[in-house]
Amino acid sequence: MRDTTVFDCTLIEMDKHHSDNKGNITVVENSKTIPFDVKRTYYLYDVPGGGSRGAHAHKELQQMIVAASGSFDVTLDDGNVKRTFTLNRPYQGLLIVPGIWRDLNNFSAGSVCLVLASEKYDENDYIRDYESFLKWKNK
Ligand code: TYD
Repeated sequence: MRDTTVFDCTLIEMDKHHSDNKGNITVVENSKTIPFDVKRTYYLYDVPGGGSRGAHAHKELQQMIVAASGSFDVTLDDGNVKRTFTLNRPYQGLLIVPGIWRDLNNFSAGSVCLVLASEKYDENDYIRDYESFLKWKNK
């Protein structure tokens, strides 16, 4: 997972089922919508407008991040290249492979960041120091 790049990360356009005047529904299915089985789901909310989260990498964890409500920017960094995605549609998911540093910025007030994760929580899977991340990536 040390040789992954930001180009391995993709924005997935999910199906949006319309119901006339009743709103929409988007479904995520293991190994179908996303290439892994979800073992954990969590969501960030009440992030102050303009606020930031993230600032870490994972060694093994795969994730899909969705702006379930509102918007925020996700900047991915593999030690060589940075890519920024603005997430603002509940039917789009950003797939993040392991070994990628991510910063989440510019949260709109009241936004909800939904995260689907391939593994249970494990603090040992985190790299929280950017210099350590670059060393781990052999940069
Ligand atoms: P962290 O992943 O650092 O949040 P973010 O990237 O959004 O800033 O997690 C914040 C805190 O929450 C951290 O102290 C650990 C805890 N936490 C859990 O206990 N379980 C979890 O599944 C997650 C994602 C976080």
